[in-house]
Amino acid sequence: MRRGLFITIEGPDGSGKSTQIQFMKEYFEANGIPCLFTREPGGTSIGEKLRSIILDKDNAEMCDMTEALLYAASRAQHVEELIKPALDSGKVVVCDRFIDSSIAYQGYGRELGDAVRVINEYAVCGCMPDVTYLMELDPSIGKSRINADVQDRLELERIEFHNRVYDGYKEIAKLYDERFVEVNAAREKEAIRNDIIGHLEGILKDRGLLCR
Ligand code: TMP
Repeated sequence: MRRGLFITIEGPDGSGKSTQIQFMKEYFEANGIPCLFTREPGGTSIGEKLRSIILDKDNAEMCDMTEALLYAASRAQHVEELIKPALDSGKVVVCDRFIDSSIAYQGYGRELGDAVRVINEYAVCGCMPDVTYLMELDPSIGKSRINADVQDRLELERIEFHNRVYDGYKEIAKLYDERFVEVNAAREKEAIRNDIIGHLEGILKDRGLLCR
């Protein structure tokens, strides 16, 4: 039986996830809630090595299924080595991207379809998020926020790819509406923070993880 709480944050590149994750971190610290902040691809030593292979602009020849499998491999290691133990010990785990990124980017963006969900069901071994915040922002706005010189292999993809990813996210959010929370990310960062933290606070109280 899982004792902790598993939160993921998703959305197009440049949608402001990092800023909101920083706000969450400050909130958990201020309230003395034991937590683990992590990211995908990455999070573990093996995962970070896979991350540099996946995102390297020089790996232009990488085929789509290789990409999907590498993301899933990083995730399998992450779940087993870090996420499950943290949840079992009662921590709140906040992960910057998780399985829904693969379904949106590889399933919809690369058009690999349902194979991506199947591969990832093996990778996560039943360890699914309790809550997923989806930052909703037009991908062209997100893309324009990222400096062209530092864009990785995925960020460099054409806008058509990013539009398919975004449409995919919206479909997944409908499909799994019991855990998805759609956040209008085209607003001031403080307004977005108030929505996310307000929602989170309700869940923490319900779970007895917030004692005030
Ligand atoms: P980041 O910039 O949010 O750290 O994510 C790295 C890139 O990898 C981003 O463009 C989204 C992409 N990605 C996938 O395509 N599939 C995945 O499963 C994950 C976790 C990320």
